[in-house]
Amino acid sequence: MGQNGAVEALRWIDPPEGPAVALLDQTRLPDDEVTLVCRDVPALVAAIKILAVRGAPLLGIAGGYGVALAAAIGADVASAADVLAHARPTAVNLGWAARRVLAAHIAGGASGALTEAHTIAAEEAEASAKMGEHGLALVPDDARVLTHCNTGALAAGGEGTALAVVVAAHRAGRLKHLWVDETRPLLQGARLTAYEAQRHGIPYAVLPDNAAGALFAAGEVDLVIVGADRIARDRSVANKVGTYPLAVLAHHHDVPFVVVAPTSTIDPDARTGADIPIEQRDAAEVTSVAGRRTSPEGSPAYNPAFDVTPGDLVTAIVTERGVITRANGGNLGLPGGTRH
Ligand code: MRU
Repeated sequence: MGQNGAVEALRWIDPPEGPAVALLDQTRLPDDEVTLVCRDVPALVAAIKILAVRGAPLLGIAGGYGVALAAAIGADVASAADVLAHARPTAVNLGWAARRVLAAHIAGGASGALTEAHTIAAEEAEASAKMGEHGLALVPDDARVLTHCNTGALAAGGEGTALAVVVAAHRAGRLKHLWVDETRPLLQGARLTAYEAQRHGIPYAVLPDNAAGALFAAGEVDLVIVGADRIARDRSVANKVGTYPLAVLAHHHDVPFVVVAPTSTIDPDARTGADIPIEQRDAAEVTSVAGRRTSPEGSPAYNPAFDVTPGDLVTAIVTERGVITRANGGNLGLPGGTRH
């Protein structure tokens, strides 16, 4: 457990117990808090693929430490960086961090790589605190906030991205209620966001994803706050599948739709949302629930892990640098440059 009730999702273990990357296995939450110790890159890549560690900024931190781990155990660092960068395709942070630590290894060897991985982790934690502060300005009094997927300490450095804003609003006495989309099919909302909200003492309720429309129609949502896995220069936002329908609902009901993400999630090479690769996952995640088949044997399924919300449906993007709106932001060539 980290500070203020936040969970510790990932930590580096030095020798003699390490070198290793220790993860809180998110596939076992909320019931079992089990640490998964990865002592080589294939073990870490396997953990990334099954979502034992997940969430774009945390994937970046994991990827950075993975490259440092390869260097520490004398593995092929360049191929480790390549495998890690491609373990999941949508979260841009993964390849960004892997390449950054690879460059540090070329310049400074194993110790340079580890220092850079620690730096990325520290930067992301600091970014999270800043996003919480900046995002708070967008939360009205007595806010009823709807969120999707998990964007807390289990998904990022520090207290998270979107959830860091929710936590800041709760501490400021401004949050009336958090609506937590269950987030089919892997239930990151029902399992992970509810787990974190409970630890923070945030008043919340989980809803089936398909109840969101009824919730808006009943006038129960004042603000939608979500994270992002990759943001294109035209402000299109790739995030957990089911985010786009929420943005359409928010637009229809005149509710602000806010995206919170560190600048490491902005991809300067993606001109539009069409340039963002969308991960397609196994049909079994849709055709079974908790390991029990719910569709006829052999049923095909459509299972994209993410969808893309066009920028014109996004009211504001909160980064560690401040709040970008249509009015002040121009395009995301970002004044001052991105961190890529
Ligand atoms: O498939 P996941 O669980 O890795 O997807 C995570 C999300 O979609 C989050 O909303 C996103 O990474 C932003 S969170 C910090």
